[in-house]
Amino acid sequence: MVEPASRALKPGADWVLPRPPRPRPQPVPRPQWRTLLQLRRNALASWGEPAYRERVIAGPFLGRLSLLLNEPAAIRRLLVDDAEAYGRTATTLRILHPMIGDGLFLAEGDAWRWQRRTVAPVFAPRQLGLLAAIAARRTASALDRLARERRSVVDLLGFFQNLALEIAGEALFSLSLEPHARRLREHVQRYGERLARPSPLDLLLPSGWTTPAELLRRRFARSWFALLREIVDERRERGIHEPPRDLFDALVLARDPETGRGFSPRELLDQIATFILAGHETTALALFWSAYLLALAPELQEAAAAEALARDLSVEAPSPASAPLLRAVVHEALRLYPPAFAIVREAKRPVEIAGQRLAPGDIVVVAPWVLHRHLGLWEEPDRFDPRRFLPGAPPIDRFAYLPFGAGPRVCIGAQFALVEAVTVLAVLLARHRLAFAGPRRVLPVAVVTTHPDRPVPFRLLPR
Ligand code: HEM
Repeated sequence: MVEPASRALKPGADWVLPRPPRPRPQPVPRPQWRTLLQLRRNALASWGEPAYRERVIAGPFLGRLSLLLNEPAAIRRLLVDDAEAYGRTATTLRILHPMIGDGLFLAEGDAWRWQRRTVAPVFAPRQLGLLAAIAARRTASALDRLARERRSVVDLLGFFQNLALEIAGEALFSLSLEPHARRLREHVQRYGERLARPSPLDLLLPSGWTTPAELLRRRFARSWFALLREIVDERRERGIHEPPRDLFDALVLARDPETGRGFSPRELLDQIATFILAGHETTALALFWSAYLLALAPELQEAAAAEALARDLSVEAPSPASAPLLRAVVHEALRLYPPAFAIVREAKRPVEIAGQRLAPGDIVVVAPWVLHRHLGLWEEPDRFDPRRFLPGAPPIDRFAYLPFGAGPRVCIGAQFALVEAVTVLAVLLARHRLAFAGPRRVLPVAVVTTHPDRPVPFRLLPR
């Protein structure tokens, strides 16, 4: 059982902490074929009120049993204890494989284990100081650029997407991705808007069948991978450093201990695609929602800015001790608007969970979006209250808060993303006060990630 988290918290007791306007899309009762269309438009609207109250919801979906889990103990069994009984679904593969191939996110079994071991050192805690320095420097120059352009109104989501891409490029590939940024972003955007939405056939057909949408995705993949090949060629020309100094070195030098085999050129591309995509879009969204929530809570924003101004957070990776409030803001943004809104698994063998017997092909969903707003797990779940994550707050169950997943497939970039987000936010708040420059009402929309339904105009006022 999770302790309601915001009770009896002292720091910042006088902050006015808002409920964001239109916190969640409201579903309307509908037949199953309408749910399929809803999943295409905005998956968040497919969960009705019971999802936020019940511990487990089980029902048939397209001829299979489908479970939604909000029970921390059952989630632990799914993601940790019985993790090997489950795999990614045919729909996930259909949607993501054209973009990220057999890279770490979609790999399974021995191939996954070897890949994960290979890249783990690049994400070790000792690398985070370097990352913070890169993030701080890149944020400062991006803000300088904005100042030179004298733009009074800024689309912060676009700003963070480009910035996160620059930071990932330098930290993981020792490259400036700036010359490629426009085309990379165009591809990611086009994919998200048109091709990443699951068609009814993507959801209906078992793996092994090709849907019409898949043919379009494959065509798109040719142009996406051609662009990535240019980036890989450019990086190769700079040489490979041994021992590895970045992710690219680590990938090129990796050898399977049993076979002595390295990544083929195509496998290398799949990894690059995986890390470019996973490494910037989600972090940019975490930053956008953090900025959005801070603009709704001006007093809290001032307290976070004071923390940023009091220490030079670019010198070392911001820790819970050096940046408690900024970290708590990012965590609370990840709670309210988890960029990865659902973690979906398909049973690979007969297995039992939450009192249900699953057959191969049955689906289990843990939706951080629902879990983080569950009425039995959180006090006032719709309220933005970073105090839940401050040191000394009542503990939060490990399996009630899952922005990065858990278990063997937990996000390998979780610490990378947190350090980057806190550093970027610190540099931004130390220089500017964030205010809305137009309507603030947004509806969160989930297709691959949780994003706002429209651009939100911000004003960056100098401090
Ligand atoms: C706020 C930012 C981020 C969020 C919310 C996020 C979320 C997640 C989640 C929920 C998973 C687990 C999915 C599952 O179990 O099905 C995951 C996996 C993964 N993430 Fe992240 N992520 C973020 C940032 C990053 C960054 C910065 C990188 C790389 C630089 C990254 C790389 C990956 C990879 C490669 C996996 C697959 C790991 C595996 O299957 O072994 N992510 N992420």
